[in-house]
Amino acid sequence: MSNTVDNDKRRFLTTAASVVVGGAGAAVAAVPFVSSMLPSAKAQAAGAPVNVDISKLELGQLMTIEWRGKPVWIYRRTAETVTNLSSQNDSLKDPESTVSKQQPDYCVNESRSIKEELMVLVGVCTHLGCSPTYRPELAPVDLGPEWKGGFFCPCHGSRFDLAGRVFQGVPAPINLQVPPYYFLGDNRIVIGEDTQGVA
Ligand code: FES
Repeated sequence: MSNTVDNDKRRFLTTAASVVVGGAGAAVAAVPFVSSMLPSAKAQAAGAPVNVDISKLELGQLMTIEWRGKPVWIYRRTAETVTNLSSQNDSLKDPESTVSKQQPDYCVNESRSIKEELMVLVGVCTHLGCSPTYRPELAPVDLGPEWKGGFFCPCHGSRFDLAGRVFQGVPAPINLQVPPYYFLGDNRIVIGEDTQGVA
């Protein structure tokens, strides 16, 4: 795969968040988001935590924000998605999240999250750094009958479930990274910091 292709895959919007609607016939809508991301863009570029308003994130939706120059996905899982998380453990390389650097200690659980209904992941493939695509459909033709929604990396075909856990038989060696984060009430989340301090 050429560098050109890889760089294209890594490119993503830095001034707005993308919200992808799950389910059959998935639609894509760009949602202005700059006003809900604090502090300033300059501080963010330097690695400051990002304060995100998730009040408008609906069930099955994924939003993308930027933290430390990387895409971070925030996804509101449906009850079905939560239930399905345990159904494919035998097909995953590390279903128990044993690689400690890939998530904070408080996210070592099946959903790899603080609240099982809310996923937070760094959207960078652990193979060579492309940004995987969100594929929420059930059993799409190109991903096969066992697919229950997840992320597919178009660069070399790595697959991850909706907790960022990598499947067996693909080039990515480990699960996607979970950044440090914490909640400020029900509708705000701070990415890049936890209650123990800056990561
Ligand atoms: S960068 Fe190679 S599979 Fe994702």
